[in-house]
Amino acid sequence: MADPVKFTIDGHELEAAPGTLVVEAAKRAGIEIPTFCYYEGYSLQAACRMCLVEVEKMPKMQVACTLPVGPGMVIKTNTPQVVAARKSTLEFLLTNHPLDCPVCDKGGECELQDMVFRYGAAESRFTDTKVHVDEQQWSPVVFYDGPRCILCFRCVRVCNEGMGVGALGIINRGVHSLIAPNDGDHLECDECGMCIDICPVGALTSGAYRYKTRPWEMEHVGTICTHCSNGCKTTLGVRNDEIIRGNNRDRSGINGEFLCIKGRYAFDFTNHPERLQSPMINEGGKLEPVSWSKAIAYVAKKFQEVKDRAGKFGVIGSTRTTNEENYYLQKFARLGIGTNNIDHHRTGDVSSLLDALSGHSDALATSDDFYNRKAVLIVGADLSVQQPFLAFQVRANTRHHGAHVYVVTPGAVREDQIATSAYRSTPGQELHALAQMKEALAAEPELVIAFDDSIKGDKVRELVAFGDSLGIPVRYCCLVDYSNSRGAMDMGLLPDLLPGYKPAESPGMTAAEMTAAIDLDVLWVVGSNPLEFAKREWRKTFIVVQEMFLTETAKLADVVLPAASAYEKNGTVTNVCGEVQKLKKALNTMGTKPDLEIMGLIGREMGLAKLLGPWFADQVFEEIRANVHGYNVPLPVIATGGAAQSMPVNGPIGRLRHADSIKSAHDNLFTSGNLGKYSKILNSVLEKRRDPAGQAQEMEHFNP
Ligand code: SF4
Ligand code: SF4
Ligand code: SF4
Ligand code: FES
Repeated sequence: MADPVKFTIDGHELEAAPGTLVVEAAKRAGIEIPTFCYYEGYSLQAACRMCLVEVEKMPKMQVACTLPVGPGMVIKTNTPQVVAARKSTLEFLLTNHPLDCPVCDKGGECELQDMVFRYGAAESRFTDTKVHVDEQQWSPVVFYDGPRCILCFRCVRVCNEGMGVGALGIINRGVHSLIAPNDGDHLECDECGMCIDICPVGALTSGAYRYKTRPWEMEHVGTICTHCSNGCKTTLGVRNDEIIRGNNRDRSGINGEFLCIKGRYAFDFTNHPERLQSPMINEGGKLEPVSWSKAIAYVAKKFQEVKDRAGKFGVIGSTRTTNEENYYLQKFARLGIGTNNIDHHRTGDVSSLLDALSGHSDALATSDDFYNRKAVLIVGADLSVQQPFLAFQVRANTRHHGAHVYVVTPGAVREDQIATSAYRSTPGQELHALAQMKEALAAEPELVIAFDDSIKGDKVRELVAFGDSLGIPVRYCCLVDYSNSRGAMDMGLLPDLLPGYKPAESPGMTAAEMTAAIDLDVLWVVGSNPLEFAKREWRKTFIVVQEMFLTETAKLADVVLPAASAYEKNGTVTNVCGEVQKLKKALNTMGTKPDLEIMGLIGREMGLAKLLGPWFADQVFEEIRANVHGYNVPLPVIATGGAAQSMPVNGPIGRLRHADSIKSAHDNLFTSGNLGKYSKILNSVLEKRRDPAGQAQEMEHFNP
């Protein structure tokens, strides 16, 4: 490594690696140089002139955000000239600014407001009429208020470089310059809101949040997004038991500040008008509201009756319920009612991967690996659409580290733009395509292979054999769909595998077998919609459904129990890379209960309380830590909002039955399984895409 460069800032003798920017060197030494356009991780812009500093022997003031430190450099950040320059820059930025802070969404969190407060002048010398342009709505979620824009280009860069979308540009010149969308007057983009989040002022605002509250009126609760399997941390702004905003500005999770549209906006299902808020029992063909005590007693009595006569139970769990709930459900099924007929909607073949990796060490990829490893191979998946955060990591890896990306997918994907090689494969032929890039892959120093449900069963073993044949360190990631798809498997929501992938003595029925069976006495469905397309009579089967909405399955139920969402409970979830994170309860929805409590109450009513143990999330997690392989993770990491890597099983697991039934739902950026149907924001974007002509009408919907 090259020798560090020595220099001084404000009299402090410092050193830093060659190439370090003055602005970064100052930050590390605790010296603030104010910036607007500079943003760590994105290309340099030098547009705002807020960061001017004096450097001895340089005739003019220098832009600290593009100037690398040099040997012997003497930098001054607080001279009268620097102070005057900052004041002038701010006065200039406010020339046409409307100063509508009292009604601006950004008020209280605005970098311009803060800078003017700290460095600006109390009065302006400009008396001319300000240039005005009307506010524009570019999409259901993105609004642009030109006069507030300080032309820092952060939005343009995050969209181009961070998202790989390039939906924003600039039009006009001088004071008439404006940011403009890529498609005439509207956006064709991911609707991720990253541009809104990164905007230092209130020029870009969100359709979901604007004019609803002031930031200090909300409680800010850090929890985990309940949509895809990537496990992004989202900080929910909650007021009066309503989620108003989602963001991750404190960059505290694995995802830094990244969120896609689902994590940022699709929390609105929580207060959807069709949300179930009372238990219901089917009386005479109609679901009628009843009290919780009546519903629980009714379910427990029926379960007991069927158990006593050794009847047949089927249990289908969820890919979004917590690890604690999944663990408790399988314990209830196996010990409480004595069945291995338990399953969930499986979307990736994790168990075959763990089995194939038996004897390998350090072979499962973390979400950090997608950013740090030298090469990434994507097999099958449209990563940007199906695994948005992992795709964001890969893009950042290519920008910051020059990582090589290889793609084998059936169709064109966004990763093609950054790929060293991209192959189009026909379904079933993915491994043949890999053979063609073997030489290039073997020349990489290390590799992450991420694959979707096109690789399952024996093909997973072939993929691992291929990875072994490369002769380089390879880490794998089996891509799954939902926020706790991985946890559902780890916790044993499988007919032939117990928690921690221990084989069950006698395999039970799969979800498909259960929904096809005509002799089930009880079907207990927790947070899933397996009967969505069922076209048959269910008269013989007593169906109990724990749900947030009256899904197709809930409509067929004998008893429906209204469940709390992931944002309304505590517990843990495990993401696609096996990272365990904590959900933190952000709000209450009247009438609902967390699934864990519902199961606990049914168990208690059946006299199983002692056998099943307490139904409090922390206590169940203690049991998981003690009993489930790989989950003895450090509690302080999780308790403080961090992600703890679970340790994979390292030994043969055996064959998972019916690996061929594994099927991803292939959700896109604007769908999220059953849950997505109840998000007004996601539907508004989908609606706009289906019917561009109806866009104005639909977007009107979100006007305050
Ligand atoms: S919402 Fe996301 S994709 Fe759309 S313009 Fe903004 S940053 Fe780009
Ligand atoms: S809209 Fe915001 S982020 Fe974009 S250039 Fe203007 S001030 Fe900067
Ligand atoms: S990438 Fe996945 S986990 Fe992250 S915000 Fe989007 S849907 Fe949520
Ligand atoms: S922060 Fe340096 S020019 Fe904008």
